[in-house]
Amino acid sequence: MQTQVLPANEESLALAARLLREGQLVAFPTETVYGLGANALDAEAVKAIFAAKGRPADNPLIAHIWDRAQLEGLVEIPDAAPALMDAFWPGPLTILMPRTSRVPDVVTAGLDTVAIRMPSHPVARAMLRACGLPIAAPSANRSGKPSPTTAEHVRVDMDGRIPLILDGGPCDVGLESTVIDVTHGTPTILRPGGVTQAMLEQVLGRVEVAGSVLRPLQAGEKALSPGMRYRHYSPDGQVTLVEGDEADVVRALGLLCAQAEANGHRACVMCFSEHTAALAKWRPHDIGSRSEPEEVAHRLFDTLRRLDTEGMDVIFSEVVAPEGIGLAVMNRLGRAASFHTIQARDVV
Ligand code: TXA
Ligand code: MG
Repeated sequence: MQTQVLPANEESLALAARLLREGQLVAFPTETVYGLGANALDAEAVKAIFAAKGRPADNPLIAHIWDRAQLEGLVEIPDAAPALMDAFWPGPLTILMPRTSRVPDVVTAGLDTVAIRMPSHPVARAMLRACGLPIAAPSANRSGKPSPTTAEHVRVDMDGRIPLILDGGPCDVGLESTVIDVTHGTPTILRPGGVTQAMLEQVLGRVEVAGSVLRPLQAGEKALSPGMRYRHYSPDGQVTLVEGDEADVVRALGLLCAQAEANGHRACVMCFSEHTAALAKWRPHDIGSRSEPEEVAHRLFDTLRRLDTEGMDVIFSEVVAPEGIGLAVMNRLGRAASFHTIQARDVV
């Protein structure tokens, strides 16, 4: 199959809408990451998403809408949901809702809830409106790879597998949406993202964060969000996180790289802009300023992808505080590193 990458305009949006109505796949930009969309009401079209991504069938998808009226007949709206929609839609928040039988099993991997999101990106909204369908869309990467934040990332992963990629430029947030469960008990964040715990608490009162956000699932533990089970966001090289006081971390990064190189590895660091000069010898990948966790979020997946292109096999990374958007950064970075962490003071 030939894959077209087209700038988003009236003509390409009309083509996207036609392909989606015919049951084909279209990659499109959102404010978080690029999505790989199909008609959420067409089980065969949704199966093609799993095939193109190489995604395990037990990992459910998010259904995207542009208008709340599309929810009618699809879901039962939880009591807490309208306040969340008022505050954060359109935007990077996904809300679990009990589903009706109109939502095919493939979308939810058989679960009795379906994840719903109303994106704010103008291209996503225009496409959703033009096709008039709820669109099931995971991130448009091959399963296991970092989510794509540019049309070029999507092309690298999906060339020859899908007919159309709409190019809307780089994504703003750079990490996937926050996923929240308000269907029972205390509202719980299953996946942290651009809408932070503090922002949600302003609307809902107390909000919990699922335990597996900052650690691997334990043996026998049930994944609240099936996506948490899988190796994810990983470059081909081995990433190790280095924690501690700023000066210790910078020294430790240099020592660890020197050691890895002596052992025959191609080593590099992922560090804050403030430290690239001190670490110039170790092929620094600038993850953004120490004081701008939004910037780190925005750059993270592109950085992880570049490590592969450059053939790095050992990578040492700085970390951000797991607060605000930093919680989402550490959830993704932790998984990229399989939660492998070193204390800088043990090295220097
Ligand atoms: O920002 C985003 O959310 C992007 C863009 C394209 O909208 N989409 C995205 O989709 O990240 P995906 O499939 O890569 O991640 C969806 C996450 C997975 O971790 C999945 O397990 C979880 O949401 N999920 C989906 N439906 C669920 C459900 N019914 N219950 C629990 N978790 C669910
Ligand atoms: Mg994904």
